[in-house]
Amino acid sequence: MALILGIESSCDETAAAIVDSAASTLERRILAQHIASQDEAHRPYGGVVPEIAARAHVEKIAPLIAATLADAGLELADLDAIAATAGPGLIGGVMVGLVTAKALAMAGDKPLLAVNHLEGHALSPRLADPTLAYPYCLLLVSGGHCQLLEVRGVGNYRRLATTIDDALGEAFDKTAKLLGLGYPGGPAVEQLARAGDAKAIRFPRPLVGSGDANFSFAGLKSAVARTVQGGGQVPADIAASFQQAAIDCVIDRTRLALAGLSGMNALVIAGGVAANAAMRGALETLADHSGLRFVAPPPALCTDNAAMIAWAGGERLAAGYRDPLDAIARPRWPLDAAAEPVRGAGVKA
Ligand code: KG4
Ligand code: ZN
Repeated sequence: MALILGIESSCDETAAAIVDSAASTLERRILAQHIASQDEAHRPYGGVVPEIAARAHVEKIAPLIAATLADAGLELADLDAIAATAGPGLIGGVMVGLVTAKALAMAGDKPLLAVNHLEGHALSPRLADPTLAYPYCLLLVSGGHCQLLEVRGVGNYRRLATTIDDALGEAFDKTAKLLGLGYPGGPAVEQLARAGDAKAIRFPRPLVGSGDANFSFAGLKSAVARTVQGGGQVPADIAASFQQAAIDCVIDRTRLALAGLSGMNALVIAGGVAANAAMRGALETLADHSGLRFVAPPPALCTDNAAMIAWAGGERLAAGYRDPLDAIARPRWPLDAAAEPVRGAGVKA
């Protein structure tokens, strides 16, 4: 057994999980987990308010960890390591989780793993599917990021493409806001889109056909805004047509990135938007056509959670990584430090 406590607090979810990274199935790997969502607290503002988030993390984190340990029937002394998100994310929240992890690591004399939240997403498919081997091509789509990565191993990522403006989750959230669907928007847009006609409105597909695999969603978002403000369209048709445009962009960009890769074991999707069934379906078809396996974690492991942080911590522990008790919280922290910075990279992950 290798028992890792994971802590996640980089955005609007306070989460704790205990993972046995030596277990051979997903069911046995996650021994216990708790997620406290702050959706209600942020809903009146239509988005995450950093100060409200940080305060909520402070209130919830200790009881959440206690409950997770109790559910697993474990005590601090039983754990092999403590892992926490150390960035990127809203800095107040990240500090709450990281400081808590440091206190536990010090009190229990356990190794500390300061985990990159994006690495948590990037490795979550391996938590879900024990047969997924490196290297794989990953589409990481969340509220703050939209990237294609070659995942070569733990701590070894090559960015193939990224968004030059908005993240994909952000585009979903803004569309939801325009349609009055509230926050968080992705699941609401997906649900409304089921009742709509995806061909009703021909929204733009920014960068489709361009020579690099980068993404852009700002023009799509503006087009949705103009359509909503212009009136006369059925909201479900707007949602469905927006979602289809976004999917078309993702498929075109991913196909181009795949064309430049060889030796991949799978096409993989992770991050909050990976919970979207239509997106998963389209990528699965692309994987089929490309002769690749398709791997997507179950939806609950796509959106922010602590099991993925514990799992990434376990992979790092096994690879020999340890972090000092003065490890810093980072608002920004690219997975591929060698990749060129781009305009518009958000702080949410
Ligand atoms: O990974 P995540 O939980 O948090 C970040 O690290 O950002 O991703 C949250 C994002 C939000 O933008 C949310 O609207 C989007 O993922 N999302 C979805 C769906 N579920 C969550 N987008 C589209 N369809 C969904 N079903
Ligand atoms: Zn995330």
